[in-house]
Amino acid sequence: MVACRTGAPRLRAHGIDTPRMNKPNMETPTVDAQLDAETENRLVAAARRAVQAAHSPYSGVCVGAALLDDVGCIHDGCNVESASYGLTICAERTALVSAVTAGARTFRAVAVASNLPRLLMPCGACRQFLSEFGPRMQVVVVGPGEERHRTTMDRLLPSAFSPADLNALP
Ligand code: THU
Repeated sequence: MVACRTGAPRLRAHGIDTPRMNKPNMETPTVDAQLDAETENRLVAAARRAVQAAHSPYSGVCVGAALLDDVGCIHDGCNVESASYGLTICAERTALVSAVTAGARTFRAVAVASNLPRLLMPCGACRQFLSEFGPRMQVVVVGPGEERHRTTMDRLLPSAFSPADLNALP
């Protein structure tokens, strides 16, 4: 789901009209401002709601993620497990796939929530996947209570492999 509070809802950008949108984000990110409390609360609430949608019959771990894009829309996602275990997709990547489908390419922040009695930090695969679209995005991980762990993507994945590396061949 995509929720946009201000302005027109984000429209899907079809590659045929906007070829630039289909390229990875090679530019130095400029969106790294701290979230204000109200925006952070909205993002956390969206991540917590997405936990309820999790499909996790095998592990029982329910995860929700919510991404804030550069125009203020929130895109959520939950983990979806598969009986073929390796096909399971994490909440963070579900949220990103949904956001990209809606036309978003740059993100300011991500919130992650789960049903665990402690913080669930994004896994390595999700750090790599998210980093490409927001290497300096804010990350807020929440536990069952008031605890909030605030960090940034570049702290979670320092020295990341990035789209720029693909241009490094002579
Ligand atoms: N999971 C996530 O959704 N995000 C993470 O960053 C780590 C793990 C999910 C995948 C699986 O459904 C369950 O948690 C247990 O690994």
